[in-house]
Amino acid sequence: MIVILLIATWPSNSSSCCCAGFFSSAPFTMRFTLSFVTLGLAVVEVVHALPREWQRPSRRSAPNLLDDVLVFDAPAFDDPANPGNTLVQLQAYVSSRQLDLTPLLDTISGELNKTLGLDISKTLDRAASRLALFGTLPLSGKDVTVNVDNCGNAASLPSTLGGMAIQNVTLGKCDGTDALGTVTLASSDSRNVNFTVFPSSADGFGVISDIDDTVKVSHSLDKLLLAKATLIDDPVPVTGMPEVFSSLAKSLNSPQFIFVSASPFQLYPFLRDFIDTTYNESSGPIFLNNLTTTNISAITDFAANDGIFEYKSAMIDRIQGMYPGKKFLTVGDSTQKDPETYGEAIRKYGDFIACAWIRKVDGANNTDARFAAAFDGVSPDKFKLYTDDEIPSLANIDVAGGTCN
Ligand SMILES: *[C@@H]1O[C@H](CO)[C@@H](O)[C@H](O)[C@H]1NC(C)=O
Ligand SMILES: *[C@@H]1O[C@H](CO)[C@@H](O)[C@H](O)[C@H]1NC(C)=O
Ligand SMILES: *[C@@H]1O[C@H](CO)[C@@H](O)[C@H](O)[C@H]1NC(C)=O
Ligand SMILES: *[C@@H]1O[C@H](CO)[C@@H](O)[C@H](O)[C@H]1NC(C)=O
Ligand SMILES: *[C@@H]1O[C@H](CO)[C@@H](O)[C@H](O)[C@H]1NC(C)=O
Ligand SMILES: *[C@@H]1O[C@H](CO)[C@@H](O)[C@H](O)[C@H]1NC(C)=O
Ligand SMILES: *[C@@H]1O[C@H](CO)[C@@H](O)[C@H](O)[C@H]1NC(C)=O
Repeated sequence: MIVILLIATWPSNSSSCCCAGFFSSAPFTMRFTLSFVTLGLAVVEVVHALPREWQRPSRRSAPNLLDDVLVFDAPAFDDPANPGNTLVQLQAYVSSRQLDLTPLLDTISGELNKTLGLDISKTLDRAASRLALFGTLPLSGKDVTVNVDNCGNAASLPSTLGGMAIQNVTLGKCDGTDALGTVTLASSDSRNVNFTVFPSSADGFGVISDIDDTVKVSHSLDKLLLAKATLIDDPVPVTGMPEVFSSLAKSLNSPQFIFVSASPFQLYPFLRDFIDTTYNESSGPIFLNNLTTTNISAITDFAANDGIFEYKSAMIDRIQGMYPGKKFLTVGDSTQKDPETYGEAIRKYGDFIACAWIRKVDGANNTDARFAAAFDGVSPDKFKLYTDDEIPSLANIDVAGGTCN
């Protein structure tokens, strides 16, 4: 697997430039370094080394016409402190409108050609749309307000910091079905920025699933194929998994599906579109890595020091915080750290994790020693390692009845 480390280095004299003039006078004059690093980790990391000024809010304001706002589809849960109230764990990203991606794409296509022999010149538009968020500058000090259909209140997030804001917001009482959320923009701004709120009860089941090579073919173990799958190809589901998930949607009585991937949040529009169409009967919020840091050593540390294990474990903690009374089926694969993460989650949370299913991906470390270590101390009837041949039969496992394999 791979880390694409894409480092935009700003020329030092640009650190004093600001705002609108910046876009006209310095359209992407930074230098790019692109290197593929095989680390046994499947993550695409991108760092914008931004001038410091962009990280600090000088004043607070609502997003304006020049800003892009993304609100991620959000899980909603019963407020433990206030029965009848629904909390939504809302996350938004506010950035400047896109910079011209052409120099970035030229650099990337040149590098891909040189290092991998991959020619993306015919599909640059597609690559550009997949990479679009990488060409945005995170904005701090932006206040995002939303309305959600079928819920009582409007809600505001705290000001963005480094582009991001995340908070549990109170929406009053929602009616329990998936709801359309809309960002409140200035009256002069005719754009619609929508998102979906997925509420789920405090009890019952949920499914936590990885994306790459669990539900979507990403070829995490092959640099060339991973780059192709990410930049060029139509996304393809792992054969049989849409059917398994739609069967789980019924057998687990509309569980809360949550997709957790260590991919960077900049790939959210691409992945969301895929889940929404290919897994439409089992769609749900997608948690991605929201690293927008300018700290290069933090990124390198993430990759080198088991960052994926820590990140995914933190996401399970996050889900447990919202739904401590549910039981979750966790689904993943052997390319990254899913066996280790899910094994640890079972040891930590017991029956909160009902089952762990792991797809054995060809070429990954599928040794008995690995799985024995990952599931050390875990009862063999709590997890299942499956090959692709076995995928159709997953739908026959009575997870609701307490069986995992
Ligand atoms: C890719 O590289 C080869 C030489 O290595 C060159 O002939 C070809 O024109 C390049 N293609 C593109 C699209 O850059
Ligand atoms: C995402 O970023 C925000 C702001 O930087 C941070 O507070 C939050 O903990 C991050 N959340 C996750 C889930 O990584
Ligand atoms: C957002 O939702 C509104 C109301 O349903 C709809 O009219 C509009 O087309 C949606 N916009 C987008 C970009 O999906
Ligand atoms: C999912 O898509 C299929 C095929 O397009 C369609 O028949 C089905 O009604 C959709 N389900 C939902 C829940 O949208
Ligand atoms: C950058 O990251 C490293 C490693 O995570 C950390 O030790 C250091 O304090 C960070 N530096 C800043 C300025 O945040
Ligand atoms: C949101 O609420 C959950 C559940 O109470 C809690 O675990 C989490 O820390 C809260 N998150 C934030 C950002 O306040
Ligand atoms: C597979 O994982 C086990 C347990 O972590 C490790 O001891 C072994 O060296 C790994 N094998 C390969 C080929 O990486």
